[in-house]
Amino acid sequence: MHKEAAKFTKAFKERLDAATDEKVRIVIKEQYKDAFDILSDCENAGLIPGIIGPPGIGKTLLLRAYAEKSRREFHWVTGDEGVRPSHLIGSFNPALVLDKGFSLDSFEPGTLLKSMVLGGVFGLNEANRLPEYVQNSLLEPFEELSVNVQRLGRVKASDGFFPVLTLNPEEMAGAHRLSEALRDRIRVWIRLGYPRKETEMEIVRVNCPEYTISDDTLEKIYSLVSSTRMTTDIEIPASIRAGISVARLAAEMTKRQKEKSTSHQTLSKAASYVLSGALRFRPGIDPQPAVDALIRRSLGTGRKA
Ligand SMILES: Nc1ncnc2c1ncn2[C@@H]1O[C@H](COP(=O)(O)OP(=O)(O)OP(=O)(O)O)[C@@H](O)[C@H]1O
Ligand SMILES: [Mg+2]
Repeated sequence: MHKEAAKFTKAFKERLDAATDEKVRIVIKEQYKDAFDILSDCENAGLIPGIIGPPGIGKTLLLRAYAEKSRREFHWVTGDEGVRPSHLIGSFNPALVLDKGFSLDSFEPGTLLKSMVLGGVFGLNEANRLPEYVQNSLLEPFEELSVNVQRLGRVKASDGFFPVLTLNPEEMAGAHRLSEALRDRIRVWIRLGYPRKETEMEIVRVNCPEYTISDDTLEKIYSLVSSTRMTTDIEIPASIRAGISVARLAAEMTKRQKEKSTSHQTLSKAASYVLSGALRFRPGIDPQPAVDALIRRSLGTGRKA
């Protein structure tokens, strides 16, 4: 084998193991605990749930944790115009077909079919962005738990197969909607909103395991992030993800600068780097000055009065 190719193959195999060994770090309480329990109830009752929540609220993480708890694989697909039924179900590799004909050996399974056959948890993000005919290709797998694979036959899903949709609330209201037929298959809606202060601070901490972050710094990050959720000038506010990023960047800057604790200046700077791209303001508002003003308002100027 070519040297470069051999190097890649070795590294790829190691990385596969690394992904399998990765443990999910999740705060399961309040809405997350409720959602976890309802997911389990839905599965037992044979109902397909949809999870609705703003970006970065923990939808994907929740499904990953749910799959991990029952030692199942987790597969997911994010909907957009470019996704075809062949990505979901699979397709024949023309080069292999020449050699082996239309058989399983020349078939490359799609993500949904893999999940159905292996009995995994299947997360479908933003299904409303899929073209309607692709949404329709999901009806049989979701309703009958079976799928017709052309030239190979009809496959029934394994017992562990559990499909779940996730959506942003904005998308629910937006022009691109779920097709009526697919929406009709989703029987239970689980809503996730921004968590309580203490819970969000705990989530940020859990996602910064290698840093020691003071309560004071965490509180400031929370107050900054949550302030973006209360102003009408902002269409997309800071997510939990943004808060985690501010915390991690500020902690790393503190370490590099050999500060004893995170200074006002460091925190403001880290927040500016993260938030300048993390928020969507109403049209007509210049983002950078608006972010700077927001940080000053929430964190103060750092000078003692
Ligand atoms: N309950 C929680 N416990 C620990 N970490 C969390 C929790 N909720 C969210 N997070 C963290 O917040 C980040 C975003 O989570 P996730 O990717 O699951 O969000 P999402 O709702 O799927 O976002 P998107 O809509 O953009 O797909 C991740 O870093 C995740 O680890
Ligand atoms: Mg997600």
